[in-house]
Amino acid sequence: MKKVVLAYSGGLDTSCAVKWLKQEHGLQVICFCAFIGEVKDKTKLVKRAEAAGAIKTYVVDLKGEFARDFIMPALWAHARYEGKYPLATALGRPLIAKHLVKVAQKEGAAYVAHGCTGKGNDQVRLEVGVRTLDPKLKIIAPLRDWEFKTREEEIEYAKKHGIPIEVTKASPYSIDKNIWGIAIEAGILENPMKEPPEDAYVMTKACDKTPKKPRYIEIAFEEGVPVRLNGKTLPLVDLIEELNEIAGEYGVGRFDMIENRLVGIKSREVYEAPAADVLLKAHEELEGFVMDREFIHYKRLLSEKYAELTYFGLWFSPLKKALDAFFASNQDRVTGKVRIKLDRGHAICVGRTSKHALYKEKLATYSKGDIFDRKASVGFMKIWGLPYEGMGE
Ligand code: ARG
Repeated sequence: MKKVVLAYSGGLDTSCAVKWLKQEHGLQVICFCAFIGEVKDKTKLVKRAEAAGAIKTYVVDLKGEFARDFIMPALWAHARYEGKYPLATALGRPLIAKHLVKVAQKEGAAYVAHGCTGKGNDQVRLEVGVRTLDPKLKIIAPLRDWEFKTREEEIEYAKKHGIPIEVTKASPYSIDKNIWGIAIEAGILENPMKEPPEDAYVMTKACDKTPKKPRYIEIAFEEGVPVRLNGKTLPLVDLIEELNEIAGEYGVGRFDMIENRLVGIKSREVYEAPAADVLLKAHEELEGFVMDREFIHYKRLLSEKYAELTYFGLWFSPLKKALDAFFASNQDRVTGKVRIKLDRGHAICVGRTSKHALYKEKLATYSKGDIFDRKASVGFMKIWGLPYEGMGE
């Protein structure tokens, strides 16, 4: 019997997919479950996968790799799709694709499978990712192919086949969460004029429920990497998780947007990304403090492209790799501290310091001690404006 490695979440969809792959395709199913957000009960996951018919289940904590190899490059790139979404889900998919391929190769499986629907970006990211890494693998997407139309039909199927499912009330939203943020879709959110109800939010408090007094936090970077939060040295994953708690408490990092999906649809998306929002702002701030104008202005164009490539499922493409090298090239200068004020839904950079600062108070000051040569401005303007003399209306 041929083998398939299924990206397994433990939810209803992928649990039914285990059985379905076995029944419809006659495959031996190996489940692969990665933690990049919440750490779930491993024993329960394995039990459920096996009850559904899996011959083997891998459960791995990939938060460290996710932070180091996916979040960090995106942070250095200042990647936000369409200027807002920090790409949490889009960054998680290539990591899962990479490990699906690894497990498939190790197990000698001819197939991989995933639980993405046929309408979203995630199927593209997983499938293009897998094909980029190993074009010999065949891909099956049960949710695109099977006959179930409703959740009830899936529950019925699960019951019939003895697949243990949690009988919790189904969330009215479709949710995907990892340490870089959460994506919330569907239900009432599909009406673009309706404000998302408070119960849609998971990681952030409503502005009117946040502490009345602002809180100041300090993030220290070493060569581009956030290493200390409020003076405390923390591994990257812990720093991100702690910052999610702190900034979430102040309602920071909520986004409500109409987004252009790769598959041609405009969709209403609600995101929460407290730590991502703060770290992106802090890194941009510090980099702006230590880099020159030309670099900063040019980088903004590349950031846009990078976010697009990530969103479009081209994480393993040559251009994305080349851009990574560009963004990494100056990180040795990005050392210093940024002070941030958290205040009712806002994170505002209010202080920055670095041994590599290009900011010179002596040049900037309008007070005593000014060393800027004002007289030199005259000659500078004469030449700068020369090509345009008389060209106006
Ligand atoms: N629209 C977002 C993206 O394409 C979020 C996708 C969320 N996925 C999910 N399965 N709910 O990155």
